Amino acid sequence: MKVLGIESSCDETGVAVYDTAVGGARGLVAQAVYSQIELHAQYGGVVPELASRDHVRKTLPLIHQTLDEAGIAPGEIGGVAYTAGPGLVGALLVGAGVARSLAWALDVPAIGVHHMEGHLLAPLMQDADPPEPPFVALLVSGGHTQLVHVEAIGRYRLLGETLDDAAGEAFDKTAKLMGLPYPGGPQLAALAQQGTPGRFRFARPMTDRPGLDFSFSGLKTQVLLAWRDSDQSDATRADIARAFEDAVVDTLAIKCERALEAAGCDTLIVAGGVGANRRLREKLHAMAGKRGGRVAFPPPALCTDNGAMIAFAGALRLQAGQHEDLGIHVVPRWDMATLSAV
Ligand code: KG4
Ligand code: ZN
Repeated sequence: MKVLGIESSCDETGVAVYDTAVGGARGLVAQAVYSQIELHAQYGGVVPELASRDHVRKTLPLIHQTLDEAGIAPGEIGGVAYTAGPGLVGALLVGAGVARSLAWALDVPAIGVHHMEGHLLAPLMQDADPPEPPFVALLVSGGHTQLVHVEAIGRYRLLGETLDDAAGEAFDKTAKLMGLPYPGGPQLAALAQQGTPGRFRFARPMTDRPGLDFSFSGLKTQVLLAWRDSDQSDATRADIARAFEDAVVDTLAIKCERALEAAGCDTLIVAGGVGANRRLREKLHAMAGKRGGRVAFPPPALCTDNGAMIAFAGALRLQAGQHEDLGIHVVPRWDMATLSAV
């Protein structure tokens, strides 16, 4: 079955087709992502109403383009998956409306996918030896930082989460306060590569006590103070970026190791935009290797928001016989622990 996936929860319009008959990474037979970054950059963050309007403009053309490029006729689509939440309600409704209408017109089932389950399952889309539950998942995006015990696909137990800023949000806000344009996370990470390790040092928040929750908002203040009292040169900006990245990466690695121990697992999977961070990938590979386990990441392009993960997650649920009635439902705030097993 070829499943069309549509992602529209925030500032990326993502469209993809996943073919369950092929499976693995090669099952992803078509995909395209349109990023609204330029649209929102002048405001320093995502403007929800502008995001919705841009999804209205881009979703259908992107579907046509994706199918044309892959030479797939609409009649070959056996199911339509879309992001039903969590996310910006107006943005979600655009994807849901298009997906549900298309499914009705094509007379195929539609399925609303949990955005974070999409991220979580993305590392399983690989040809050789995909990880199998049980494992621990670290979900690190612009809106979420969660450690989840995945007992089976669809059975998720939250082990810990951020009490304030998400890891990606901390990257973006820290970048902004040192004058980098939105969205600063990837740029801050690029700058950190040039920084001198050890010139600045920030705390590893909440690692000095037991528990698997995170708190990243205090790091921002530490950076603000260090930056304000510095010469504000390019070299200093890079050195602070390096120290900030070190603090976040170390903190995430410490908590991931604890979570593996708490859950009695050897396998860690990492997903979400911050999963594209090179130093985080290296650090977690080293940590998992030392424990005799493994860590799996999606390719960097599938860490940030995309339609492929929605097509893949939707395909798994449709294969399990799950789909929806004719209503158009979205859930702007949605707890992943309420999902059912596939
Ligand atoms: O998963 P995602 O695309 O969107 C959400 O669902 O939130 O994640 C976007 C987040 C942004 O905060 C962005 O700054 C961060 O991921 N990000 C990175 C990197 N690439 C993206 N953070 C650190 N290092 C990166 N290389
Ligand atoms: Zn996301």
